[in-house]
Amino acid sequence: MRILELIDKKKSNQELTKQEIDWIVKEYTAGNIPDYQMSAFLMAVCFTDFSDEETYNLTVAMRDAGDIIDLSAIKGIKVDKHSSGGVGDKITPILLGVIGALDVPIAKMSGRGLGHTGGTIDKFECIPGFRADLSIDEFIENVNSVGVAIAEQTSDLAPADKKIYALRDVTGTVDSIPLIASSIMSKKLASGSDKIVLDVTVGSGAFMTNLEDARKLATKMVAIGNRFGKETIAVITNMDEPLGLSVGNAVEIAEVVRTLKGYGMPDVMEIVFTLGSYMIMLAGKANNAGEARILMETVISNGSAYNKFLEFVANQGGDISYVRNYDTLVQPSIIREVQSEESGYVHKINARIIGDSVKILGGGRDNIDDEIDPSVGIVINKKVSEQVKTGQILAFIYGNDKEKVDIAYRNVIDAYEIGAEPIERPKMILDIIK
Ligand code: URA
Repeated sequence: MRILELIDKKKSNQELTKQEIDWIVKEYTAGNIPDYQMSAFLMAVCFTDFSDEETYNLTVAMRDAGDIIDLSAIKGIKVDKHSSGGVGDKITPILLGVIGALDVPIAKMSGRGLGHTGGTIDKFECIPGFRADLSIDEFIENVNSVGVAIAEQTSDLAPADKKIYALRDVTGTVDSIPLIASSIMSKKLASGSDKIVLDVTVGSGAFMTNLEDARKLATKMVAIGNRFGKETIAVITNMDEPLGLSVGNAVEIAEVVRTLKGYGMPDVMEIVFTLGSYMIMLAGKANNAGEARILMETVISNGSAYNKFLEFVANQGGDISYVRNYDTLVQPSIIREVQSEESGYVHKINARIIGDSVKILGGGRDNIDDEIDPSVGIVINKKVSEQVKTGQILAFIYGNDKEKVDIAYRNVIDAYEIGAEPIERPKMILDIIK
């Protein structure tokens, strides 16, 4: 086979065979196809599309290019949860406490933040001592002893996706529905859980900016999971404004702790309860969403979700005195108020602009190897639908560099859209695809 012929075939929108897709993945991963030809191929996929069969074949090829984790040594039904990315998305750490407290085993493989979106491993690593570089044996042992563990995806898990995703990130080829679907599902299928709950985000802070595309992505991923015999459900959630109050790393861990203690923001709780209900039902611990929700409310109000979180953080080496007293987590040298320049109601907070601003402050990364500053971030003070008067605080900027704080300040002003008319709080759950 020759890569040039396959680029031409895709460019003219012909369907590739399983053998052709296997060949491209294998040869690119082995370093036999140069980045410039793979970029041309990926761009052809973006412009022409991939059929369901091609998407499935790409997923299988990327899954099989690396290790496939065997979690059968963990007792019970393992349900994985994955988000397609967002701004202020702290749902995974919260669910680890809540679902873990209900004796549903969670073996969570997670990644780091890239671009405007944050990453769960980065957030946990701002707790001194916390380790996510677990071996597979440690990972399984932690789930068996505490019920919950999180590990950074090893480079042996779906290495083809790792290499292709890094190339897509710098060649403008991330936002393709079949490429996203196969990238996410190759990792989910390699990481060994029995069932999968997907949070497909839509809005200014997500890869999918409209509901129709989010539905297409969710439908493709659910079909792939089910075809593998892993029951998969996708919840389409609103990611138009940053989720909850904080965007960053230490600031998000502080919000996770407050949420587990019962002080969660309504938008965060709506998503926690919906995704959590499906996880609990798929694990066979409740018959319906109402029952699952009562279970979750109970473990939050009686403190067991918070205690499970402490137990799991300690088990991974984290110093829980920093969780108990989250004000001692790493702090920035500058905290600047952003004051509203007009009066009215908050109509919109562009999550993408907020995510990009946190990246400028140093809290995110352009390249997967970049260092991040865990102390910086943006804390929202006025959410969508709230009334605001000139001079009132819209948000706080946490930074360590005055020039970057100045840039973030202007960005936050631009991210807020203030209108004269009152508006309703937006819906957070936009669809469920089963
Ligand atoms: N997240 C992934 O893991 N892959 C994508 O392609 C997009 C988001």
